[in-house]
Amino acid sequence: MTFFFFDILVSLIMSLNSAIGVFDSGVGGVTVANAIRSELPLCNIIYVADSAHLPYGDRSLVEIKEYSEGIASFLIDQGCKIIVIACNTASAAALKYLRERFPHIRFIGMEPAVKPAAEQTKSGVVGVIATTATFQGELFASVVERFASGVEVIRQPCPGLVQQIEAGQQNAPKTEDMLRQWVTPMKEKGIDALVLGCTHYPFVKPVLEKILGPDVRIIDPAPAIARQVSRVVQEINWNINAEGTTEWCTSGNKAEFLKVLQQLEQPIHVATKLTWNQNRLLR
Ligand code: DGL
Repeated sequence: MTFFFFDILVSLIMSLNSAIGVFDSGVGGVTVANAIRSELPLCNIIYVADSAHLPYGDRSLVEIKEYSEGIASFLIDQGCKIIVIACNTASAAALKYLRERFPHIRFIGMEPAVKPAAEQTKSGVVGVIATTATFQGELFASVVERFASGVEVIRQPCPGLVQQIEAGQQNAPKTEDMLRQWVTPMKEKGIDALVLGCTHYPFVKPVLEKILGPDVRIIDPAPAIARQVSRVVQEINWNINAEGTTEWCTSGNKAEFLKVLQQLEQPIHVATKLTWNQNRLLR
């Protein structure tokens, strides 16, 4: 009997050890977790939504860096060797710092997909929608400098859009009005590609397609990030195959988090409430 429980304990620890850590301020990173799941169906994922501090996009980069460090420490404690920062805003604020702070962990961050947009544009004008904080980060400026010379890049912050999506209002008339007001001027300036620079925004892709029509390509970087995760798994020679489960963790209200996940049609295996204690995130 004792051995039986010991086995269960070991397999539990093993399965925790084999998880990929994914985090975001809320449900945005689900778009990235889903892409990872398609690429690596049998991997286990521990997903952290820092719903207590949502939205990140209106906060200072210093604050976001602090939260990101707390979440990364939590995921490392759970045995994650690969951590995906499934949030453009947190990547802008903390990717470089986290790589220096935890050199033994492989961090994969979001980078606005300006490169493919600039490579494919025929009009020479591309648009990017993202949070205010993402546009303030060095990462965005460096991406534009490296990949978009000779291309006009129109930036449009979308304050309030993340909250609409978190409220399950991605298809509501108000959300469509907000998007119309932001992207119509971009279309009038001739964009033929629109980069989704926030992981929440793929949830409004159908509405954007309706507003922009077939001549504007909408670019979601999630599949490219998932391929990158798969490459890193191979590089570090990690046998990722496990049960293919996701543990959904939130620092906010668990019932509300589960409700949004259900609205987004996510299968839920395990859900956990996490609590911030000063700068530490605890089970
Ligand atoms: N999903 C986050 C991102 O990619 C949203 C940030 C927020 O909470 O405002 O930027």
